[in-house]
Amino acid sequence: MQHSFVIVACFIAGCEDGDSAPDSLAVDATSSADSASDAPGIELPMIPDAEDLDPQENAVRISLIADELERSVAGQSFAGFGYNGMSPGPTIRANVGDTVTVEFVNMLEESTTVHWHGLSVPNAMDGAAWIDAPVPAEAGFTYQFVVDHPGTYWYHPHMDVSRQVDLGLYGAIVVSSPDEPAPDHDIVLMLDAWAEYDENDPDHHQLPPDPETVVWTVNGAVQPTFALEDGQSARVRVVNASNTSYVALDWAGAIWIGGDQGLLAAAAPAQSVVLAPGNRRDFEVLAPATLSTALWTSAGGSTLGASRTLLEMVGTGETTALDWPFPGTTTSLDPAYTDVVYVFSGGGGQGDWLINGEAWPNVTTETVSLDEITIIEVRNLSETHHPFHLHGHRFEVLSIDGVAPAIATFADTIDVAIRSTVRLRLLANNPGDWLVHCHLLGHEDNGMMGILRVN
Ligand code: C2O
Ligand code: CU
Repeated sequence: MQHSFVIVACFIAGCEDGDSAPDSLAVDATSSADSASDAPGIELPMIPDAEDLDPQENAVRISLIADELERSVAGQSFAGFGYNGMSPGPTIRANVGDTVTVEFVNMLEESTTVHWHGLSVPNAMDGAAWIDAPVPAEAGFTYQFVVDHPGTYWYHPHMDVSRQVDLGLYGAIVVSSPDEPAPDHDIVLMLDAWAEYDENDPDHHQLPPDPETVVWTVNGAVQPTFALEDGQSARVRVVNASNTSYVALDWAGAIWIGGDQGLLAAAAPAQSVVLAPGNRRDFEVLAPATLSTALWTSAGGSTLGASRTLLEMVGTGETTALDWPFPGTTTSLDPAYTDVVYVFSGGGGQGDWLINGEAWPNVTTETVSLDEITIIEVRNLSETHHPFHLHGHRFEVLSIDGVAPAIATFADTIDVAIRSTVRLRLLANNPGDWLVHCHLLGHEDNGMMGILRVN
């Protein structure tokens, strides 16, 4: 059984004029991934780009409005949230060096903020609710920052995070560089995990992390199809916007070219590419093929069961491979001292999730020196994975359980496996008090968050 819904409406003033108005996001309303697999897929919903309201060259000005939104996912309708009348929200596109101004208006009946995940923005623009007062209902805030590094980023609230993100508040940010080739298609895929809607818990419908029962949506649709024309090139930017669910992507016919912080040091096979919640991974498609995920869980990584189709890519032939300026850098040497240790623990019957034995907001601020190299060690003593995320910075991964990555690896969110230790090299070049937290949003909301002060 299959229906189609149109979930996007123009609820907002000003939405009807201009390119940023969403046309429609058709959602495959098939009730489970299994029954969808033998149905002809619906077309991949393309996330509209936010309209740039500033005619100047090095400036991008966006109007972003958070509001309630009637949503329909996997055959179930519910009262959710969206930006500019859609979920995912519009993709903000800019060139490296641009000044981005986001005129944000909160039409929700509750406070919210917008956080720019992965970007080095000034501290006051970070949307971290405990520093700035959050944006109250029916109020606005103008965020402004320079995008200084090419890559795929995303935005989401940092207030009642688990619930507000779950209800649909997230969108992508693409920062392009003239040094990178421009493909025929530059496509954003925002992944989210969907579990059966629970009327007793209407605000948390995507929580169960069981990879067997979770239904993945791609730009809001279940198992959509994208037709790639012969000879066309495509860069596909995948964002894991799920609260708690991981993917391990396999994509025959594609190569893995980018991570959290732009191009990789060298291309890698598109096999078992894990995205924890918050991670981004970019691919170049060389021949049309199915994008799938192996079953993967925060309780111990890969697990038994058939892999799931996320996106069918159809077409007749090969594309033209592009020439990416991979830098080829190797991993920096580990200086073998440590400035900051974060120990992740808790959960189980103990309630709170802890960093260094403390639960937010009763935490000890760690301080590091501005513009100096800081070595951070993250140890996970608990029985579940935790994606470690630091605001306002990018870091290099020095080692995972003592093994250095083969190529230099830059990130803002790194999965730390059960009983694992990850060492990170950080140039702490952005002054302020920055959040450090687990990006399993339920953990973050239940204590697993701290502050790194750079001054
Ligand atoms: Cu995407 Cu503090 O988070
Ligand atoms: Cu966690």
